[in-house]
Parts: sequence; structure tokens; C-alpha cells
Amino acid sequence: MKQVVVFGSNILDMFFEIQDFGFFTKTGADAEDALHFRTHKQAPGGKGANQAVAAAKAGAKVRFYGALGKGAHARFILDNFEAHRIDTRGIIQTDEPTGCAAIFTKPDGKHKIIVSQGANGLARADQVPDSALGPRTILLLQAELNPAENQKLMIRGKARGAQIILNVAPAKPVAPKTLACVDYLIVNEPEAQALARHLGLSAHDLNGAARSIAGKFDLMCIVTLGERGSVAFSPSMKEPCYTPALAIKVRDTVGAGDAFAGAFAAALAEGLPPETALRHAAVAGSLACRKIGAQEALPSKRDIMAALPKLKIGVPLKRAA
Ligand code: RIB
Repeated sequence: MKQVVVFGSNILDMFFEIQDFGFFTKTGADAEDALHFRTHKQAPGGKGANQAVAAAKAGAKVRFYGALGKGAHARFILDNFEAHRIDTRGIIQTDEPTGCAAIFTKPDGKHKIIVSQGANGLARADQVPDSALGPRTILLLQAELNPAENQKLMIRGKARGAQIILNVAPAKPVAPKTLACVDYLIVNEPEAQALARHLGLSAHDLNGAARSIAGKFDLMCIVTLGERGSVAFSPSMKEPCYTPALAIKVRDTVGAGDAFAGAFAAALAEGLPPETALRHAAVAGSLACRKIGAQEALPSKRDIMAALPKLKIGVPLKRAA
């Protein structure tokens, strides 16, 4: 079993249930300047932490590197990592406050997020020692930390033989030098097309964009398609690999992409081939939509294995959801 090493963000998420997003869009006389809620839910979040917990729940041995503040929010987050047996010795605690987010979720599962990066901006690649990077490492990164630190770590990881997964979320341009280190790139549809355009590659349609990124950087480009599943392109595969999602009733999609990336990393760490790892990821991403919250909704390995037979493999993606 390989080890999953996550270099990523920590955010304290505050969830507010809202009926519609009118408050954010209304202007003029009927626009209000304050919005009141009876209560809210507080939970550990951040794409890095969510993916680390997703990988741990899916059965992987996980080490986490990132940055927190020093107060009660940091303690809350550290306790959560420890409850999931994640090695936190590489986390630094800084004078900046722990990152936080206000997340507004509607009954139809749609959401809006406001994030303050806080201490995450101080996470550094050199927190990760060389001993954590080697051929038995799956290095998992997102786009919530400083891109230059991500790049430094990926260059070191690549040189030391680690397998590298980059989830470009939230959407950001990625430097070609960074992409040259990546083995598995996980993006959603708009991210794939924006990235291809930014790199000056074909971006007329999703398949063209993903195929051209995969070919140019010799990587597997995995595009998540929400309730339609995912499609992966790799120069070593004759055909794209389509994987459906599970048909489920969606309550909240916050953290679904993190569940997908974490479960994918855990399955690779277990030694499963990428096509099988994509099925585990699809199931985890779907199951994560059943409850409000990013980590609370993450499935365990047992949940993933129990739901795998329900994936309608071979059914064209448009009809699978
Ligand atoms: O991917 C979901 C995460 O994005 C939330 O937990 C929130 O912290 C934001 O960073």
C-alpha cells in the first residue's frame, strides 16, 4: 500500500441554509444589507483537508501538510484529522487566522461559497521532507494554496518518483512547468476548457480540450461531469474512459469533487489500475452529495464497496445519471 501525501488547504466551513440567492443579486430599493439566520453548522473543510479525509475514509494511510492559525478553530481541525488517523506532524501553526468560509446552500443542492484564505497563504513546500516523497507516495494537491509552492513540491516529488495528482479546483491557470510534473489531472468541464485556452491548446469542445492537455503533458486528464460522471483521456489509452455517477438524490454538492479526488488517490495507493480507481472515485463523489457538509457526507471504504455494483458501467453517460 502506498501512502497518500496531501499538501493542501484547511478551512473552517460555516454552512447557512438559504431559500434562494436573491440577497446576493438584488440591487436597488428592495436590496437588503443584512441577512439573518437562526443558526448555522460549523465543520472542518478546505479542499486539501476534505481530500485528505476522503482518502483516509476510503482506506488510505494519509499524511497532511498545510497551515493553520493558533486558536480554537485550529484545534477543532487538528482533532478532526486525528480522529481520521491522519498524520498531522507536518502542519505549521502561524499568527494568521485559520482559513474560513461562509457556505450558503439551497434546497436544490446549489451553493455559493465565500472563502478567506488566512493561514493557508503561508503553507510552504519545504514543510514536506524528502522522506515523504518517493516511489511509494501518491502526492495529492489542489489549487487553494500558493501555486508557486505547489510547483516547487511537485518538481521535487516528480524527481523522487512520486505519482502526482493535481485537482485544479478552484479554477486557476496552471503553468506548463507544473503540468509537466502531473500524472493525473482532475478538472471539471469549465476548468478543462479554460485551462486548454490558457495554454493555447484546442478548446472548442470538452473532449478536444481534455485530449489536447493529456497529449501535450503526457498525463491522464480526468474531467468530472457532475451527475453525468467523468471522462478520462490519456495518450496511453486508445479510447476515452467514461465512468458514470450513481443515480442519487442530491442534497448538497459541496465537497463532491473532493470526495472524488480523495477516493481516487486512495484507490491508486491500494494499487488499483486508474480505470478501477475512477469507479471508486465516481461512487465516492456521488455518495458525498447525500448530506449537507463537505466531510460529514464522505463515504467510508465499506460504503464505496457496497455501492460499486450499482454503477451502470457501459451505459452512455447522458442516460446514466
Ligand atoms: O470543495 C469544498 C470546499 O471548498 C469547502 O469545504 C470550502 O472550504 C471550500 O474551500
